Amino acid sequence: MPVLPIVKYGDPVLRQPTQPVTKIDEPLQKLIDDMVATMYAAPGVGLAANQVGVSKRLAVLDLSVGKKPGGLHILINPEKVEAEGAVTEEEGCLSIPDFVEAVTRPERVKVRYTDRNGEKREISGEGLMARALCHEIDHLNGNLYIDHLRGFKKERILKKIGKLAQSGMW
Ligand code: NI
Repeated sequence: MPVLPIVKYGDPVLRQPTQPVTKIDEPLQKLIDDMVATMYAAPGVGLAANQVGVSKRLAVLDLSVGKKPGGLHILINPEKVEAEGAVTEEEGCLSIPDFVEAVTRPERVKVRYTDRNGEKREISGEGLMARALCHEIDHLNGNLYIDHLRGFKKERILKKIGKLAQSGMW
């Protein structure tokens, strides 16, 4: 299970809404395995397919980073069907390394998706789980957590990334 390169902010693939998965076949299973390996190696708690350059509506998520059996979720074509409340916490992203910013997200969400066996499923999450689900669905829609920032905070992070890019460190 090779670890795949993770694309960074600035790569246009992160801004394209991903294409729904229509076939759960062998290449998709391989992509899922590679994405899980890549997420654990990073390490991270979630990874969307477009973060490894594949514009498909697929994300993997494991808040325990592989430490808890049953912690891994493979989300094919996930859709948020319910969201309530609001909570503001720091959030980061493997495609925007070394930055964290406070982002307001729903406190609880319900997401419908298909698992890797083709079964339709539903997951309800609160707190960090709700945040991670929203973050990954954002990715699949071509959005990033920094899109939720406003004013000075947004300018500051974009300026810092711009400087890193200029000096070839991004
Ligand atoms: Ni991310």
